[in-house]
Amino acid sequence: MTDTTHPFDALMEITARPPVVFVRGEGSWLWDDTGKCYLDFVQGWAVNCLGHSPPAITQALAEQGGRLITPSPAFFNDASLRLAKALVDQSCFDQVFFANSGAEANEGAIKLARKFGALHKNGAHEIITFDGGFHGRTLATMSASGKKAFEPLFEPKVAGFPKARLNDLASVERLIDDKTIAVMLEPIQGEAGVWPATDRFLLELRELTKAHGLLLIVDEIQTGCGRTGKLFHHEHAGIEPDIMTLGKGIGGGVPLAALLATKAACCFEHGDQGGTFCGNPLMCAAGLAVLQIVGAPAFLKSVADTGLYLESQLQRLSARHGLGEVRGRGLLLALDLKVPMAGSIVGQAFEEGVLLNAPRADALRFMPALNTTRHEIDLMVDCLDTGLARMGAARRVV
Ligand SMILES: Cc1ncc(COP(=O)(O)O)c(C=O)c1O
Repeated sequence: MTDTTHPFDALMEITARPPVVFVRGEGSWLWDDTGKCYLDFVQGWAVNCLGHSPPAITQALAEQGGRLITPSPAFFNDASLRLAKALVDQSCFDQVFFANSGAEANEGAIKLARKFGALHKNGAHEIITFDGGFHGRTLATMSASGKKAFEPLFEPKVAGFPKARLNDLASVERLIDDKTIAVMLEPIQGEAGVWPATDRFLLELRELTKAHGLLLIVDEIQTGCGRTGKLFHHEHAGIEPDIMTLGKGIGGGVPLAALLATKAACCFEHGDQGGTFCGNPLMCAAGLAVLQIVGAPAFLKSVADTGLYLESQLQRLSARHGLGEVRGRGLLLALDLKVPMAGSIVGQAFEEGVLLNAPRADALRFMPALNTTRHEIDLMVDCLDTGLARMGAARRVV
């Protein structure tokens, strides 16, 4: 793609992007360089949990940036210690390793499980993952993912990730043998189209993994940090996993991710894990600002309430246009369109100044800022309503 004012060609072409350049954001709103304003229900792919450039994060970054940006991962820094303690205090986990992306946190989880198998389970190293799962774009996390489009890519894959089916305990049980060390899953499969694991499945999976001495790893990179109305999604099921990964929302827009584990599962030795920017105070300061707000019970309740409102509005829209189910929890929802028209709807909404995401051809995914308002939801739903009607897709039943 070329453009007379923007050097688009200087970037590697890794995905189709509209020729629009964003220059400013505030809360649920984004502006491009022509001054056009967009209502953002993508929010960096469920990243900006407090919206664009929230004062709490910009102030934390400015304050920390003026004090200390990075002393090297070979030394402790106060922001990472405080954030680790805050995460440990608000979860069932005992220790934290900070990373820079979700994929890197998941790589860490995979390594931790393999190390655990080497130390405690005669070298067991296989990690059961799930069809439709998504864990990142490094070689190991692509191999752990159950995304069909990844299958032909970058062969040979990293071995050791047999796939079970979500919400099918017997499919997990069948794969367990003496090579198995862990089961790893997203509590809601986001990239696949927002397919939730049931609370009952999570509960039974916890019992099954305990009975076989296996680690349970929850990838909460999309579902964590308040997205579903609890600080961490697995709390809905009342379970305590052994390992959890966080990304996206924990940094509120900056590259921060975390690997958390119980004391029993923490078995890295010197040299096993690390990274130049891991736990740098600048990103951790943003994480602390996020956690202080998102971790408050009143905030989490407001996410759950706003999620119910969005869900009800989408259900009304679905009934009005003869569409399918609304899936998900809190502010991670999908609307099943029943027919492959998601791409056209997203394109049309973009023209109207509303940013939406289509994880598959027949579904829309909604992942607004956790502090989005009912008014903003109404604006987005009105845009969808008009778009559906205009596309002639409307099969009105009321
Ligand atoms: C559940 C899940 N795991 C892992 C990742 C990878 O995170 P990142 O893109 O930060 O590497 C994502 C990103 O979409 C995700 O949704």
